[in-house]
Amino acid sequence: MEHSALAARAAAARYNAYAPYSGFAVGAALLCRDGEIFTGVNVENSSYGLTVCAERNALFAAIGAGKREFAALAVYAAPIGADEGPDYTRPCGACLQALAEFCEGDMPIIRLRTESDFTVTPFGELFPYGFTLSEKE
Ligand code: THU
Repeated sequence: MEHSALAARAAAARYNAYAPYSGFAVGAALLCRDGEIFTGVNVENSSYGLTVCAERNALFAAIGAGKREFAALAVYAAPIGADEGPDYTRPCGACLQALAEFCEGDMPIIRLRTESDFTVTPFGELFPYGFTLSEKE
């Protein structure tokens, strides 16, 4: 699948973000190795700490559907009502740790700044030294 097609899915999902407190809408699209795509958005709460990021919502939806192998992730974060983010989105540390459980270091992370402007970074470059319970190569 083209990176631009997965990027478009993240951008479309982003419109469903529930972010009344931060005003920052995030959309993620996770491509499984079998070709299926799971999307997620950030879901905030009046008890702020309960907020869950878009990336983890996409990942956990996929895991719940039985998926374990992933090919790419696209993420797009920008203020609600705007179509341009402050930067090419980097997933937060908590999401990177959650993704590290399942994703290889060479998995492409498609980081959007606008719907059509993105950059692609290998997962291992964004998160080279995650926590593990046992030694990993
Ligand atoms: N957020 C995400 O959805 N993904 C990230 O990787 C970092 C931040 C959300 C959480 C919160 O709803 C809003 O962005 C501002 O932090």
